[in-house]
Amino acid sequence: MSAPHSLVNSPADWWRHAVIYQVYPRSFADGNGDGIGDLPGIIHRLPDIADLGIDAIWLSPFYTSPQKDAGYDVANYCDVDPVFGTLADAEKLIDTAHDLGLRIIVDIVPNHSSDQHEWFQEALASEPGSPQRARYMFREGKGDSGELPPNNWESVFGGPAWTRVIESDGTPGQWYLHLFDSSQPDFNWENPEVWEMFRGVLRFWLDRGVDGFRVDVAHGLIKEQGLPDNDYAKEAPLGNRGPFWDQDGVHEVYRDWHKVLEGYGPDRMMCAEAWVLPLEKMAWYVRDDEMHQAFNFGYLATAWDATDLRNVINESLSAFGGVGGPSTWVLSNHDVVRHASRMGLDYQSEGQPTGIGPLSPNKPDAGLGLARARAASALMLALPGSAYLYQGEELGLPEVIDIPDEMRQDPTFFRTSGERYGRDGCRVPIPWESDTPAFGFNDTGKTWLPQPDTFSSLARSHQVGVATSTLELYRSVIELRSKHALGTGSLEWLPGYPDSVVAFVNNGVAIIANAGDGDVALPEGDILVSSGELSDNLLGPDTTAWVKLPS
Ligand code: GLC
Ligand code: CA
Repeated sequence: MSAPHSLVNSPADWWRHAVIYQVYPRSFADGNGDGIGDLPGIIHRLPDIADLGIDAIWLSPFYTSPQKDAGYDVANYCDVDPVFGTLADAEKLIDTAHDLGLRIIVDIVPNHSSDQHEWFQEALASEPGSPQRARYMFREGKGDSGELPPNNWESVFGGPAWTRVIESDGTPGQWYLHLFDSSQPDFNWENPEVWEMFRGVLRFWLDRGVDGFRVDVAHGLIKEQGLPDNDYAKEAPLGNRGPFWDQDGVHEVYRDWHKVLEGYGPDRMMCAEAWVLPLEKMAWYVRDDEMHQAFNFGYLATAWDATDLRNVINESLSAFGGVGGPSTWVLSNHDVVRHASRMGLDYQSEGQPTGIGPLSPNKPDAGLGLARARAASALMLALPGSAYLYQGEELGLPEVIDIPDEMRQDPTFFRTSGERYGRDGCRVPIPWESDTPAFGFNDTGKTWLPQPDTFSSLARSHQVGVATSTLELYRSVIELRSKHALGTGSLEWLPGYPDSVVAFVNNGVAIIANAGDGDVALPEGDILVSSGELSDNLLGPDTTAWVKLPS
């Protein structure tokens, strides 16, 4: 087990300004060549990631799971799935990260378990009304013989949010709630046993030295009393309204968890995955006695538009600042279309797509998308607060569109009969080397999702040391961000630029992001970095530059 305070030079509130890199274990690096990434693979590649200059990694779930939702269906929260390795591998990974100076955050999935979890199997084998059933959300159905679901709630992945069970006497019986796949039954957070179980899970991983938790579906745990029908006509843009999202009671859970973390010292943190808008409401999750951060999905959902960007930055700083927390900034993760592709789409007509596939009407312009993504990342990493990166964005990876239907894995695809392509396109195993099997993901060439040929020129080995590469751009801005202490800085808007330009100063560095069509003159000073070529101090469209102003 690792020493709890091995990162002696890192302050307790390191998370306020950290750059945190998301590792999606299935797709990062495959140590045993079976086509699925694993913990030994991650350990092997960790030095390359540390080399980016990041402060911490967040690991998506690697726990025991039938993998119906890529590990977000957990059967045992305190063990490692054989597909990813062993508990000893997890301990070694935590220690290796700490040795490299990286903090480590693990995912915790409290809204639901897998249907293979011991508790759910016990619940199925027990009578309606039993204490075993009371750990989940079992209800009688409506209709003469209970043949209709208890209410009209829909699964996030499509289809009804209720599934009927067959009772031990062989007859159809109660229904259980699953806000996600039918293999992901929701816990009953009104049951103290559930609270106690999760305190134990937190302690289990804290005892092994983890520095924090990313809390999955943090806004879903508590459901409105009586489980009333949802008015789907009234749904808010990010789907955060409804009797199952963002109920006030969730905050009690995080106050409780805050105390558990505090018992391990002042430097442990939690980050909420709470798709809640407005940001002012999301910021409730990061009040003093709750979590430390929340993913800024308002920022993620903002198009490459200077006015919208200024607005969301103002709103973020004021919402999170209002509760004394840092804002986070994020552009990509394992649930959304990669921003190098998203930004090459016609946003106005498409909105935020839930996956792009061969038959999608609107396909991204790859060159435009990459230029904007580089500019957007250079802008994001200059903002005060904490930034989240998703594996592969530092290579400029696009969403993979041409995945054949029969190879798709996301339950969203199946539950909507292919109407929504879902998230496989951002989860394709990442390329490390240009000319080896599976682009260095492993040495057998097997991959759980097919990699496109274009990964060859995007592979890490192809970009290392190439000044104009996306990888070197990320490395430079992360280094400069730290050197000029932008993460702990503050933002002041720079006047005198057209509306289509985002321009601000943070700790003496001017950041100019040109989202317009024309060239923009840069201020006097030393040009520290630019996301694209400059000519005569002129910043072209879809480019961001950092300029150290004369003191
Ligand atoms: C979160 C995860 C997503 C998962 C869902 C259900 O949104 O990020 O990948 O499918 O929760 O656990
Ligand atoms: Ca493997």
